[in-house]
Amino acid sequence: MTADEWGREEGFRREDGDSRGEILSSEPVQSDLDDVGLRPRRLDEFVGQEELKEHLGVVLDAARGREQTPDHLLFAGPPGLGKTTLAGIVAAELEVTMHVTSGPAIERAGDLAAILTNLGERDVLFIDEIHRLPKQVEEVLYPAMEDFQLDVVLGKGPAARSIRFDLSPFTLVGATTRTGLIAGPLRDRFGLVERLDYYSPPELQSIVERAAEILKVAIDFEGAEEIARRSRGTPRIANRLLRRVRDFAEVKADGLINADVARNGLALFGVDELGLDKVDRSILESIAVTHRGGPVGLSTLSISVGEQTETIEDVYEPFLIQQGLLQRTPRGRIVTETAYSHIGMAPPEGLASDAPLFE
Ligand SMILES: Nc1ncnc2c1ncn2[C@@H]1O[C@H](COP(=O)(O)OP(=O)(O)OP(=O)(O)O)[C@@H](O)[C@H]1O
Ligand SMILES: [Mg+2]
Repeated sequence: MTADEWGREEGFRREDGDSRGEILSSEPVQSDLDDVGLRPRRLDEFVGQEELKEHLGVVLDAARGREQTPDHLLFAGPPGLGKTTLAGIVAAELEVTMHVTSGPAIERAGDLAAILTNLGERDVLFIDEIHRLPKQVEEVLYPAMEDFQLDVVLGKGPAARSIRFDLSPFTLVGATTRTGLIAGPLRDRFGLVERLDYYSPPELQSIVERAAEILKVAIDFEGAEEIARRSRGTPRIANRLLRRVRDFAEVKADGLINADVARNGLALFGVDELGLDKVDRSILESIAVTHRGGPVGLSTLSISVGEQTETIEDVYEPFLIQQGLLQRTPRGRIVTETAYSHIGMAPPEGLASDAPLFE
């Protein structure tokens, strides 16, 4: 097989004809359109995650001092906590270009090869949902991460030849909602692995105030406090709730968001005092009522509430667990007494979980 044939078969686009950059530009760049302009651009604009910021600051300063690329970086944590934002900050702080792609978008080794050979000196390659990279693609990534080399095998069987390319030094920034799903060998090749935690209400309040200023929304201290308190510890949700409450304030009030307007606006959109939405509550109610407190298996729960198992695990459960409303046990999910009182029910006798885990 010629290199050209291999190229076509593997989806590796060569410079003659198709441009290699094509793969990059066809990637779905993950960003909420509304959020354009709200994303912090520099490390000092990024609110919260103090320890992570300190670590990252040191790594970036050292790399700048040595005029080299920093170690590869992996950010893990639930959706909307700022992983993509941090990748952008890394590129901005290093003053290099960021190339964006994601695990599921890279189907074949050739797709990754095309992306890697297209990187400029010290560029940042951001791979979102890196836990979803196919195995054979992961294997191409290892030598690239370690030695900035790309081994391409042409042909099959006894006639197979391997060609080695040198790559420009680059920084891989990976993001994942699940560290547990990242294979050891891949994880070990990152020099810095950081977990993002849910934000505290005061941190969310400064995020809301910052966003309000950018969006030119009139809001007072208590209004911002109320939105922050109900944002499920998540900046993306804080920004989203701010926009919904702004709409409400314009239509039903005089435009200023104060505590009352925030409370009424959020109630209208189905967000309760803990920030739980309809799906959160239906998860709790399904376990509490249909399954008498649990334990209930993830797939059964998924059918009961009509959400995919991964969505329940990645998006909903972490916050419910953090709030001490739900627990994971080897036999399945159970709800706590706190959950019963939150949905306004008395817990049944002999509830699987007597005491909430939350400290
Ligand atoms: N620390 C922060 N300070 C201010 N705003 C933030 C912060 N973190 C996130 N945001 C805001 O929240 C939004 C969501 O962040 P981002 O897209 O980086 O999350 P993510 O972790 O990549 O989520 P996903 O897992 O869904 O890709 C951003 O548009 C940004 O405006
Ligand atoms: Mg993201």
